[in-house]
Amino acid sequence: MATFSSKIVTIERHTLQQQQFRPGATGALTQLLNDIAASAKIISREVRRAGLGDILGDDGSVNASGDDVKKLDVYADKAIYRMNDHTGRVCVMASEEQEEIIPIPDKFASESAKYVLMFDPLDGSSNIDCNASIGTIFSIHLRQSKGAHGTLEDCLQPGCKQVAAGYVIYGSSTVMVYTTGYGAHGFTLDSTLGEFLLSHENIKIPDAGKIYSINERDTHSWTPNLQRYVAWLKEEDAETRRPRTSRYIGSMISDVHRTLIKGGVFMYPGTVKRPDGKLRLQYEVNPLAFVVEQAGGCAITEDGGRVLDLQPTELHQRTSVFMGSKNDVDECAAFLDGSHPALA
Ligand code: AHG
Ligand code: MN
Ligand code: MN
Repeated sequence: MATFSSKIVTIERHTLQQQQFRPGATGALTQLLNDIAASAKIISREVRRAGLGDILGDDGSVNASGDDVKKLDVYADKAIYRMNDHTGRVCVMASEEQEEIIPIPDKFASESAKYVLMFDPLDGSSNIDCNASIGTIFSIHLRQSKGAHGTLEDCLQPGCKQVAAGYVIYGSSTVMVYTTGYGAHGFTLDSTLGEFLLSHENIKIPDAGKIYSINERDTHSWTPNLQRYVAWLKEEDAETRRPRTSRYIGSMISDVHRTLIKGGVFMYPGTVKRPDGKLRLQYEVNPLAFVVEQAGGCAITEDGGRVLDLQPTELHQRTSVFMGSKNDVDECAAFLDGSHPALA
């Protein structure tokens, strides 16, 4: 029989307790986070059954970013939309799977809906058919517009304006990590209870790690400094914790979750074909950067700027990203800007 070594806290209780840090809070954000947790349970159930029904495989279409759409992508996209289209808390949504912003139906649209919800319904979906971990990523902003419906401008706010963000990883267990700017906290789904229980309170990313994570297919289209950095990581020098270990699942959510727990650096740089890389700023990079910073880590772009300071100009904007342990990201930044002594 399992015993409990510390207090038992459900995600509902935790989000409610965190509300005290936001003076004047009405409870709408708390409820929105709980709605996301509820949609994650629905998606998790479906992911766990993948292979049993007719839910594996391609949907046959291509999404706004040109990726093949999987049936589970569509299912997850709908689950989040249906959970949030009628609550009066969200004024507009945007999804990696949909070209345009997603309006709230007229009958539920209201000027008092305060929040903007953006999401990647299923990240890492090319891994579904081989049973690797996938997840849902979400980002919440305060609306700026007036009127019944939210606007594109509401969705084009920089990541530093996020009021909450997080992800749910459907791994060996289902874990939800969220932040409202007061630390990053993780909850594990007890599927027999149907409850997310606090399992990773106040996550702290190690200051330095042993792992680097990048798709080395693109080595020859990286900048010379980045090529040198990754080659340097493989050299032998115990004092600087080298050689490092390489891990790359190809599902950002899994690679970043591992980075958060074990430390290290996750990288998706620009390439000759894609100067801004592949990952999407609003649905993937900003929310995970917010979580990583709240855990004490860093997230920068290839030119060394802070990810969360980028001003988005389009909905499906891409950005390069280097995120993870502070020391590792600093070290990487020194290679990228050419100041690292090893480049001399
Ligand atoms: P999605 O499944 O939402 O389209 O995202 C896939 C992304 C991300 O999860 C991962 O880090 C990256 O694609 C992998 O890309 P490469 O195959 O180019 O490495
Ligand atoms: Mn994704
Ligand atoms: Mn996706």
